[in-house]
Amino acid sequence: MKIDGKPYRSIWVNEDGWSAGIIDQTRLPHEFVTLRLATLEEAARAIETMLVRGAPLIGATAAYGMALAMQDDPSDDALKAAYDRLARTRPTAVNLRWALDAMMAALKPLGANARAEAAYAKAAEICDEDVEMNRRIGEHGLPLIRAAAAKKQGEPVNVLTHCNAGWLATVDWGTATSPIYQAHDAGIPVHVWVDETRPRNQGASLTAWELGHHGVPHTVIADNVGGHIMQHGMVDLCITGTDRTTATGDVANKIGTYLKALAAHDNGVPFYVALPSPTIDWTIDDGLTSIPIEQRAAEEVSRITGRTASGRIETVTITPEGSPAANYAFDVTPSRLVTGLITERGIAGASRDGLAALFPEHARR
Ligand code: MRU
Repeated sequence: MKIDGKPYRSIWVNEDGWSAGIIDQTRLPHEFVTLRLATLEEAARAIETMLVRGAPLIGATAAYGMALAMQDDPSDDALKAAYDRLARTRPTAVNLRWALDAMMAALKPLGANARAEAAYAKAAEICDEDVEMNRRIGEHGLPLIRAAAAKKQGEPVNVLTHCNAGWLATVDWGTATSPIYQAHDAGIPVHVWVDETRPRNQGASLTAWELGHHGVPHTVIADNVGGHIMQHGMVDLCITGTDRTTATGDVANKIGTYLKALAAHDNGVPFYVALPSPTIDWTIDDGLTSIPIEQRAAEEVSRITGRTASGRIETVTITPEGSPAANYAFDVTPSRLVTGLITERGIAGASRDGLAALFPEHARR
């Protein structure tokens, strides 16, 4: 996607040919700052501290983390240590494990002197594949928005999204946003309700920033607004991303997604989830009991950061001193609340049979 006319991906190899470039997502929307990752530890810290975030980008960053490790020391011990360090960074997004396993499978059989070059090639391949999968998610999701537009006689189609499943969360295009960008580019009037997504405000800070830079009309809403606007016919469809979807179609995504799915179900609003296939965890069936839910620092709830009228970025405390805060980062939406899963191969029913029909190579009897 473009920022002020300049094409960007969310991760790239710098001109030195080996270090990785990222956008510091903790500084958006107020400042656009790029950072250089030069070591395995810097890549791991970038994931842990959410300089980069979003399931596909976490996987892509981990892939470059492995490449940086191999550049430094391509031994068997260093390969295993890099895998283990990166695997510990964040627990919920399964793309992390998928990317690390893909890197390990490509690198382990090689002799040490061939590993660094192969690691960069594999990381680049993972990134290119992500871009192509997300582009195709957009192609498959576009007819949903087109069909909604046909009923609206020129009025914009209202799409509600949660968190940031945009190009910043992937290498490019985004997952939930890919159909939206493609609809907008095709001239279909579309307007996005952007959930602010407390506690880290990925919607208010990142999704709104992305949509604004692409010229897509949008409105930021507090997290509790979705139910009200669905009751009043102001949402035509919901599209969210996911960090891990089970083989039976249960969807783990940013905390609060489940409540939106409940409200959508109660109001007959279609609730779609967009995902590239590396987000599917084919090894598990029950999302509620099998998906590890990340719990993060209480300060992310008790404090909030923003720009003051004088332009300074400041963090303030919003809770009484001494009040404990809990910070569950993800929740699981059961498959029965999901209208369909928009994948790179088409729209699957949120069920074992629905997913197996599109991905027969993973079907379990
Ligand atoms: O904690 P985050 O910001 O990494 O969580 C990201 C989300 O929940 C996204 O909506 C999800 O990863 C989908 S990414 C295309």
